[in-house]
Amino acid sequence: MGHESDLSHARHIGSVAGWSRRAMLAGALALPGLALARSNKESGPLILDLGPSAPIPFGAAVRGETLLKDRDYREAVARTCAIITPEIELKWAYVEPVRGVLHFTDVDEVARFAVANGKRMHGHALLWHKSIPDWATDILAAKDWSAIRSFIASVMPRYGAVTDSWDVINEPIETGYRMDGLRPSPFLEAFGPEYIRRALEDARMFAPDARLLINEYGLEYDLPVERDRRYLFLRLIESLKKAGVPLDTIGLQSHLDLSRQDYFDQKLFAAFLKELTAMGVDLKITELDVKETAYALPVEERDSRVAAAVKAYLEVVQDFPVRSISCWGLTDRYSWLTVTPEDLAKEGNHWPAGQGPGVNRGLPLDASLRSKPFFDEIQLMVNKTETSFTGL
Ligand code: XIL
Repeated sequence: MGHESDLSHARHIGSVAGWSRRAMLAGALALPGLALARSNKESGPLILDLGPSAPIPFGAAVRGETLLKDRDYREAVARTCAIITPEIELKWAYVEPVRGVLHFTDVDEVARFAVANGKRMHGHALLWHKSIPDWATDILAAKDWSAIRSFIASVMPRYGAVTDSWDVINEPIETGYRMDGLRPSPFLEAFGPEYIRRALEDARMFAPDARLLINEYGLEYDLPVERDRRYLFLRLIESLKKAGVPLDTIGLQSHLDLSRQDYFDQKLFAAFLKELTAMGVDLKITELDVKETAYALPVEERDSRVAAAVKAYLEVVQDFPVRSISCWGLTDRYSWLTVTPEDLAKEGNHWPAGQGPGVNRGLPLDASLRSKPFFDEIQLMVNKTETSFTGL
């Protein structure tokens, strides 16, 4: 049975428990083989091996295209990550650019890599205001949920066998608009705050065994806007849990920012996580990375500032039930964090015209795939928590 017929079957039976796991496992393994280099010890740099059995699995967002074209990168991912997150390939606008025409090739690539290398996949992201296909706008405006359900039904069973967790709702909070803090979006506009419950309930139906997440950013710093975001986020989670909505885990994106680092208050952040986890959710760190400042400093100093921010952050989260730690990218070679001309201007442009400090260094491996102090901090965290929490 091919994936497409599996899918229509899933649609008709409504629930895909058991059946989909078996069928999808068979389906995933049957994807046409790819010549994936396993671990070729002769080539590539030395990377610390966390292994898939690390008590808190480590992971990273990856791109299928990059896995295909760059062997050293592929090896670095294979040797360091237990979980991989498709960086862009599973988002709605990417998968379904035309209604009903599902573009699975690229996310299949990521899933195939996961299966071939014994990794798990984290599904990212089902409902995100920044990835709504153009064609869906009118349908949503007509308060028609069917396009959302059909997307959820298309992807969750297809990748169910390799995917333990899903960002069902991505970035629902935005301050300054409404008393409840919900971000204005076509989802909110059409269905009101209920869209969150509906999406989570649909997700539960199509992936009954997976952990379902709300994934959010901007919750770390002791700045007015982030204080508001934390407050509003807590109220949202509280109301969803009270209403019995199927929400298991909170994804903390954790995009750290050195220009705000003076406002990172460990006690305050711990108090937030305490209140959050007391509501009956556990945590995943889903998108850890560090936006630098002070690019003119020597590289060692830059790396140690990045690592210090990561350390301060991990020192707090390690006291809570964290199921995994994933970075938004693994190496500065393919970082989504770019150094902009504005960043340089802010620092008085220490570089001759047309030049700059090179890439942002806010990921665990540098552009040559060598581990940095950031990576050491991750390692420490994985080991430290070994006895206190048994991850997935
Ligand atoms: C980003 C990707 O990294 C970019 O390549 C893409 O152009 C836009 O999306 N929070 C999220 C991620 O949840 O989906 C975003 O990923 C980064 C911020």
